[in-house]
Amino acid sequence: MGITERIGAQFRKPTGLGGALSTFVMNTINRKQYAATERELSLMPGARVLDVGYGNGFMLQRLIAHHGDCEYYGIEISRDMLAAASKRNEKAVSSGRLRLSFGDIVRTEFEDGFFDTVYTVNTVYFWDDLEAGLSEVKRIIKVGGVFVNTVYSREWLDRLSYTKKGFAKYRLDELQHVGERCGLSVRIVPIANGKSYCLVYVKECKGRER
Ligand SMILES: C[S@@+](CC[C@H](N)C(=O)[O-])C[C@H]1O[C@@H](n2cnc3c(N)ncnc32)[C@H](O)[C@@H]1O
Repeated sequence: MGITERIGAQFRKPTGLGGALSTFVMNTINRKQYAATERELSLMPGARVLDVGYGNGFMLQRLIAHHGDCEYYGIEISRDMLAAASKRNEKAVSSGRLRLSFGDIVRTEFEDGFFDTVYTVNTVYFWDDLEAGLSEVKRIIKVGGVFVNTVYSREWLDRLSYTKKGFAKYRLDELQHVGERCGLSVRIVPIANGKSYCLVYVKECKGRER
């Protein structure tokens, strides 16, 4: 594997020292995305929140600091990230405010309608099946619940050499249409025009679902 493929692989599933470095880089360059995601979540006191692909737990740490009265969960496919996020958020884990698990968003064991809010930052490029993942998110959020999906645009990712392999790069209209096919309404919020966006999916009340 060449160096650019190795870098790409560390974004897809961070492991070992390379994973610690790549997540540090993400935490540094993606601050605007984290801030926009937090804004779009509009967390209410007591909300039950899931982070999909939490990486080293940086965003969870931020939310716990700002909204300590919510109940947090996370799901991740990298065991090294489970360890890193647990260490970073040790106090929240030991108090029971944060429950981190190992697993794939495409198939979870959460009950129907368990979460008020689900979010993910820069992970959909790596899901094996986008439509299956969005359907699963729809299943586990309550009616009226929100899913914030924060992404870089396909055009922006195309400029980066390490995204040539292992990244499913979506156009915004594809992300919108797949969500609508799953029965979610979708709003697109620009973070930086042409570069980065939050897609805010809502599970509408039953009468409006397909
Ligand atoms: C680019 S990193 C983003 C990490 C974190 N969200 C952040 O912004 O700092 C992508 C993360 O998603 C995780 N991931 C990829 N596919 C996943 C899936 N199907 N279910 C859960 N997590 C996944 C990876 O292991 C990795 O930690």
